[in-house]
Amino acid sequence: MLITGAHGFLGQHVVRLFIEESNCDLILTAREKETLFVGTADEARILAYHPLDVTQRSAVKEIVTSTKPTVIVNCAGFVKVDESEVKRELAWRTNVSSVEHLAEVARKVDARIIHVSTDLVFDGLRAPYSETDAPHPVNYYGRTKLASENVLRTAGLEHTIFRTCLVYGATEKANANYALSVVLALGRGETIYAATDLYSTPTLVDDLALAIVRATERRRLGLYHVAGTEMLPRYEFALKIAEVFRLDTSLIQPITAAELKKRPGGEYLRAERPVRNGLVSLKAQTDLGLRLSNVDEGLQVMERGLQELLGEDIPYIYE
Ligand SMILES: NC(=O)c1ccc[n+]([C@@H]2O[C@H](COP(=O)([O-])OP(=O)(O)OC[C@H]3O[C@@H](n4cnc5c(N)ncnc54)[C@H](OP(=O)(O)O)[C@@H]3O)[C@@H](O)[C@H]2O)c1
Repeated sequence: MLITGAHGFLGQHVVRLFIEESNCDLILTAREKETLFVGTADEARILAYHPLDVTQRSAVKEIVTSTKPTVIVNCAGFVKVDESEVKRELAWRTNVSSVEHLAEVARKVDARIIHVSTDLVFDGLRAPYSETDAPHPVNYYGRTKLASENVLRTAGLEHTIFRTCLVYGATEKANANYALSVVLALGRGETIYAATDLYSTPTLVDDLALAIVRATERRRLGLYHVAGTEMLPRYEFALKIAEVFRLDTSLIQPITAAELKKRPGGEYLRAERPVRNGLVSLKAQTDLGLRLSNVDEGLQVMERGLQELLGEDIPYIYE
């Protein structure tokens, strides 16, 4: 199995779970030459990654034809929603052209592709959404991810697409993880502003990684939504984060998304966002035998995971 973006937030969780749950050979790739520690301090294993920039067609072709994986799990992506509005070419190359390169060579070696997409393929007018609802992205990032799905749908190869939403969990990587950024800011005693009118179904990264492993093992194809079981606004999510991590809830200020844009730094919130978004994951729960976490359960898993990764007193570690 070949994993792209294996050093990212989701990628690292997927790698660790494949190592724990299956005995398949893993070919790990990351943009940079990276290593990852897995196991306990006593029994640490260091995994070396092959450097792979997924936007480079020849490099993708070279590694896939030389290693001949049966499954490619694509965890690479340009995930910065607001930056995608201004770095359109880069966002397209990373999110769409890369999938074209992977699909082209996967067909040649007869590999299956597992790909990760987003709730931002929807406009948020009729959430929560199931797999049969029609997508209609309102920002450029959402358009690139929908285009990447369409590449796979028309590529004539076996594939599985997971759409997910506001992923959170234990990691040292603060990007792509709203919950960790809240923990860090409140841990530093900073006031944060959280939107009262931006809804989503936050997803524990461990649940998403398990869905990917199960779909691989059970050879499940097609489209799956995998998200948490609660649809709530950022403000309520931030309050729950503060409660579980025993941080000061009074530092969290409610604000509307429109007001947030007017605050200092608001000019960087360039992308339009669906207001009430969220995913229904019944198909994944049934087909893959998943029990998806609610926010309180998920945050407790995240806290335990951070303690394992970083030590006892999480917020102060970041001072
Ligand atoms: N996080 C969320 O809330 C969320 C929600 C919906 C969908 N998703 C999707 O989930 C997938 C994984 O994202 P994530 O949350 O794990 O974010 P992440 O931590 O930023 O992981 C993305 C990975 O892609 C790598 N990458 C970027 N450009 C690359 C390139 N040209 N070649 C090779 N690797 C490249 C990044 O490498 P560097 O570290 O070197 O930049 C990073 O390791 C993405 O497809 C994303 O769209 C995430």
